[in-house]
Amino acid sequence: MVSKRKETVLVTGGAGFIGSHFCQRLLQGGYRVVAVDNLNPFYSPLIKSLNLKELARYRSFRFEKGDIRQRAFLQAVMEKTRPDYVVHLAAMAGVRPSIQNPSLYVDVNIRGTQVLMDVVRQFPVKKFLFASSSSVYGNNEKVPFSEDDNVDRQISPYGATKKMGEVLLYTYHHLYGIPMALLRFFTVYGPRQRPEMAIHKFVRLLYRNRPIPIYGDGSTARDYTFIDDIIAGLWNVLHHEDTFAIYNLGNSEPVKLGELIEILAELTGREPRLDYQELPPGDVQQTFADISRAHSRLDYTPQTTISEGLGLFLEWYQAMKKEHPRLF
Ligand SMILES: NC(=O)c1ccc[n+]([C@@H]2O[C@H](COP(=O)([O-])OP(=O)(O)OC[C@H]3O[C@@H](n4cnc5c(N)ncnc54)[C@H](O)[C@@H]3O)[C@@H](O)[C@H]2O)c1
Repeated sequence: MVSKRKETVLVTGGAGFIGSHFCQRLLQGGYRVVAVDNLNPFYSPLIKSLNLKELARYRSFRFEKGDIRQRAFLQAVMEKTRPDYVVHLAAMAGVRPSIQNPSLYVDVNIRGTQVLMDVVRQFPVKKFLFASSSSVYGNNEKVPFSEDDNVDRQISPYGATKKMGEVLLYTYHHLYGIPMALLRFFTVYGPRQRPEMAIHKFVRLLYRNRPIPIYGDGSTARDYTFIDDIIAGLWNVLHHEDTFAIYNLGNSEPVKLGELIEILAELTGREPRLDYQELPPGDVQQTFADISRAHSRLDYTPQTTISEGLGLFLEWYQAMKKEHPRLF
């Protein structure tokens, strides 16, 4: 019997929150997966190692530690791997830290993407996916945000680097004909969420009985999107025939910060202590995804309500806290 060759997917940022979940989904779906990650200390690399430990259980998984800004490293990985697909999730993430260190964000998110593309373009890949962000919409006044809205007014270096990534990728698509989809993720949460992101941080502070910083008056809203829904969207987009497309992957149901705190207080049974602070300059008032394009073309239909998703996050958090009390 001739066995069918497994297709290979290269995932940059594969040790991170979204990357490790997508690697797992690909492995379960019968792909060979090669994750590239530099395990940088933006948050504890121990957390990234725990993500990798889950992936190491699969025989078709390989990890290549290295930096996407290192051309020779990428060249060697691409030559060895010859992937059918490349999923580019590696980045410096987060709006507020990008204001503190814009050079690093520009270097990794723009130059790193360019170095990666200069290597990837030499190899035939069936599709290239890129993690963009709802941040590219800045303070868009029209809601919900749709892919055709103007995104020229960035209000944080992070948003600017993601927009620039999109622009650069279109150029590589145009010059080298690489089929591409750019995904604008809206505040993703769930098990393995980055520890500095709102939900993870609030839960940690609630359990430690520490005050929760609230930026603004609690009326800012985010279109929180559960990780399994994002992964389902990524899976569908990988298998969809696009030449070049941009998709919002959100939940299309914004939740106000005050409401989020109330649900968390109820689910944890803890009384939150709130520490009101001014809204930082790069923070937007709200995010709200129009997901009609992803719905009609990719059959993308988020399934998880905020209460269900927070319940699942808490289950994971409590299990991790028991095993790794210092990290969680
Ligand atoms: N989590 C969200 O809500 C969200 C929203 C919008 C967009 N995004 C984007 O999705 C992607 C994944 O986000 P995440 O939340 O999983 O973040 P994450 O920080 O958990 O994952 C990113 C991974 O990339 C790696 N990395 C960073 N710089 C690198 C470099 N120079 N070389 C190699 N690896 C490098 C990091 O070590 C990390 O493991 C990012 O591009 C992010 O900007 C995330």
